[in-house]
Amino acid sequence: MTTLWWRRRVAQRRLFPGDSHKQMSDKRIIVAIDGPGASGKSTVALRVAAKLGYLYINTGAMYRAMALWALRLNVAPSDMHRMEQLANQAQITLDAQDGHITLNGEDVTEAIRDERVSVAASKVSAIPAVRRALVRIQRGMAEENSVVMEGRDIGSVVFPDAQVKIFLDALPEERARRRARELEQKGLHPDLSVVAAELQKRDDRDRHRSQSPLTQAPDATLVDTTGLSIEEVEEVILRLVRARVSNGKEAAR
Ligand code: DC
Repeated sequence: MTTLWWRRRVAQRRLFPGDSHKQMSDKRIIVAIDGPGASGKSTVALRVAAKLGYLYINTGAMYRAMALWALRLNVAPSDMHRMEQLANQAQITLDAQDGHITLNGEDVTEAIRDERVSVAASKVSAIPAVRRALVRIQRGMAEENSVVMEGRDIGSVVFPDAQVKIFLDALPEERARRRARELEQKGLHPDLSVVAAELQKRDDRDRHRSQSPLTQAPDATLVDTTGLSIEEVEEVILRLVRARVSNGKEAAR
């Protein structure tokens, strides 16, 4: 069985002073953030989780870790049988405070950001058995904790009853520029049109697969991050959380 632990080194600062650990676990809050690549999910989800004192769970990193392992073992990311075996053997840990991830004891936080891994992760994540294994773990991580969980299917499949559901999006050209900037910060010299094409291809695959495709849940709030700063997006999300949650408890629906 897939084993996954997460460390609970969560910032103690809370949005709602007076809210105790006990109350939090009695009434855990799920903030689901979904959206396409480079829509700003990871940066903002990490910040929002720190502000709220909730666990930060980046589910894309889990699919990426599976993809990295497949690439290293020369397993085709579309090989359903082998990928199911790997998903059931993988030992993955997530640090809920800073998003660091380990695979079978190795810190792979940087390695999973490679472009080859991005492409492979999109293929690996279309395999139903891989999704089943990872979704089971994702649900387990939120069993006793309030979380900010980001991905593609969190509000639609993993936690359809999440108290707060946000779908982050941005214009394709803005997302391509952001992704290109990230690559430049790593010392690369990306061609913007190539970056845009790759992002588009991956999004199409994520949106059109049969299993848990990327989609906005009907009750999710769409936040278009085009032209917004990280601080502005963070504020919008915190406002949405505050509107649904009062004094650490779920507000009347
Ligand atoms: O968010 P990301 O770009 O790091 O995700 C990597 C891939 O994993 C992406 O192509 C879609 C897939 N993914 C998914 O299918 N479901 C999730 N909950 C998260 C990511």
